[in-house]
Amino acid sequence: METKAFIFDLDGVIVFTDKFHYQAWKKMADRMGICFDETINNRLRGVSRMDSLEIILERYEGAPLSQPEKEALAEEKNESYRKLLATMTPADVTDQVRETLKELRGRGYKLAIGSSSKNARFILEKVELLDAFDAISDGNNIANSKPDPEVFLKAAEYLGEDPAACIVVEDAYAGVDAAKAGGMCAAAIGDAASYEKADYKLEVFEDLLKIGL
Ligand code: BG6
Ligand code: MG
Repeated sequence: METKAFIFDLDGVIVFTDKFHYQAWKKMADRMGICFDETINNRLRGVSRMDSLEIILERYEGAPLSQPEKEALAEEKNESYRKLLATMTPADVTDQVRETLKELRGRGYKLAIGSSSKNARFILEKVELLDAFDAISDGNNIANSKPDPEVFLKAAEYLGEDPAACIVVEDAYAGVDAAKAGGMCAAAIGDAASYEKADYKLEVFEDLLKIGL
């Protein structure tokens, strides 16, 4: 089917907030005496906030935590994370990303965000990129996070496009799995570029211009 739209993951594709996620989780983990490092952090890519917390708590050796206690920990992390996000500016998006988005739109493609993050709009506001997208599907409109395809299927629905006419751009294995589960093509960048399930492998963001002709 002819490609009509691109659906972009946000963290690790459009902006590099991974370091902020890491710093915010690390602060919480250190306070709780939980071992947390970059390798564990990589497992959090594309995973929802509460599922990320569960992964971190695999190393927790204290007494079992109640649901309200877990929610308080997720909130503690989110507060630190949003303080870091508040420092973002338009300079946190490369010219290459901005120009590629503009060029794809100029070629007639619809563009959407498909992110597990509940902070997606806040990030897009900070980097002044809200207007670059025709639709935003994020952690606020889904019940199941990646590798479930819900966030991408919602994005396709908001755009009014058939999922099979959409290419998902992802840096996470869970995101590539989600795209494939939703019947979409997956273009992988960064970490996920070595994943055999990806239909396209991008060395740099502007390689999308070779797909969206
Ligand atoms: C994804 C990140 O974009 O958003 C995950 O890759 C993160 O690491 C998830 O856990 C949820 O983010 P937030 O902003 O809702 O806590
Ligand atoms: Mg990502």
